[in-house]
Amino acid sequence: MNPSEPTPLTARQGGPILGRVRVPGDKSISHRALILGALTVGETTITGLLEGEDVLRTADVMRALGARVERTGDQIWRVHGVGIGGFAQPANALDFGNSGTGVRLAIGAVAGAAVTATFDGDESLRGRPMQRVLDPLQKMGARVVHVADGGRLPLTLKGATHPIPIVYESPVASAQLKSAVLLAGLAAPGETTVIEAEATRDHTERLLKHFGAKVTSKAHGDHGRRIVLQGQPELEPAAVMVPADPSSAAFPLVAALIVPNSELVLDAVMTNPLRTGLLATLREMGANIEDLEKRDGGEEIADLCVRTSALKGVDVPSERAPSMIDEYPILAVAASFAEGVTRMRGLKELRVKESDRLVATADMLRVNGVTVEIEGDDLIIQGKGRPAGGGEVKTHTDHRIAMAALMMGLGTENPVRIDDSAFIATSFPGFVDLMRSIGSDLA
Ligand code: S3P
Repeated sequence: MNPSEPTPLTARQGGPILGRVRVPGDKSISHRALILGALTVGETTITGLLEGEDVLRTADVMRALGARVERTGDQIWRVHGVGIGGFAQPANALDFGNSGTGVRLAIGAVAGAAVTATFDGDESLRGRPMQRVLDPLQKMGARVVHVADGGRLPLTLKGATHPIPIVYESPVASAQLKSAVLLAGLAAPGETTVIEAEATRDHTERLLKHFGAKVTSKAHGDHGRRIVLQGQPELEPAAVMVPADPSSAAFPLVAALIVPNSELVLDAVMTNPLRTGLLATLREMGANIEDLEKRDGGEEIADLCVRTSALKGVDVPSERAPSMIDEYPILAVAASFAEGVTRMRGLKELRVKESDRLVATADMLRVNGVTVEIEGDDLIIQGKGRPAGGGEVKTHTDHRIAMAALMMGLGTENPVRIDDSAFIATSFPGFVDLMRSIGSDLA
């Protein structure tokens, strides 16, 4: 991706959204499958891997750390891992591009290996906080050789020769932070414990169990979890099937809700309860979303049928945020097509995503004629039924702002243009073709 050559794109009203599609594999599980495969001796096969830029960076980094990572077919990958603590000293800085998940998880994995590595990323990633992962990892014995001002990238970390298991009470609701500690804890003797006040996505825990580690997870307080990992397990290679990413499915799903006369089936969407905050919220707003067929293969999965719906504004509680943290930009689009006020509470973490997503989301709506306010960490949207549109949205190299804005333009009176569509490929390769195949006008 060359940031000096932006590729603008415009979405406008066309026919209904109709058809049946499967969006690409889940980003969170794809990163984790590659990293756990690299930490396992033997061959791990991954099917349905998300072949987006973010995940491809993680694949490259696992290679740089000594694992053999091969693409053997369409979304089929094979990883020959080096084992826990077995990473090789990388020759160059590890470049994670735009990917916060990739870099934070890899920092955790490297913290438990006797190597020194430099982590870096693009301008957006260099602006995001890394100190939150360094704090617990230093307690586990990793040493920060260098870190840019404010706890940012680039940073150089010397992994612990003898990692120390810790009990860590996480100060932020972050699955990336939890996962970094658990991945480092794999190399530590004894129990590593993470306590979270708000439960976050549990794909790391599920996959660790799938690879044979002992992990327990118990309720903690009203909304939290206490996760205990038994260190130094014998990980066994295991086949991983990656379900469709609910955070990607969210875009065509909301398009089908707001574009008149639409009916869309989204196949095999992961419905892990720690990822379904958007579905719960949209259903409260009156969305017609039917689970056609539910199944379970390590993660809950359902085919979802979505039909155009009259939506009403709702109050979204802050404790729901971890289960829909990436979905606020597209929920904001749905809310601007609803009747009445939607208040989304407790969105502090949105400020440190690929962009300041709280501000970027508000700006996206405002330039398209929607009345919107930020009050503290809350976003308040005055639903209008059908906004005017006609604005040009600044995406700030944020893939989710880009996709949300385009979905908005499929329903607004006037077209919506985005300044750059290139970063969509970080999480949703083939997005434009998929959307066109179900009837949307993107040009
Ligand atoms: C992710 C966790 C979330 C989310 C990100 C993916 C993960 O970030 O925003 O897209 O795979 O663990 P935080 O852990 O920083 O909330």
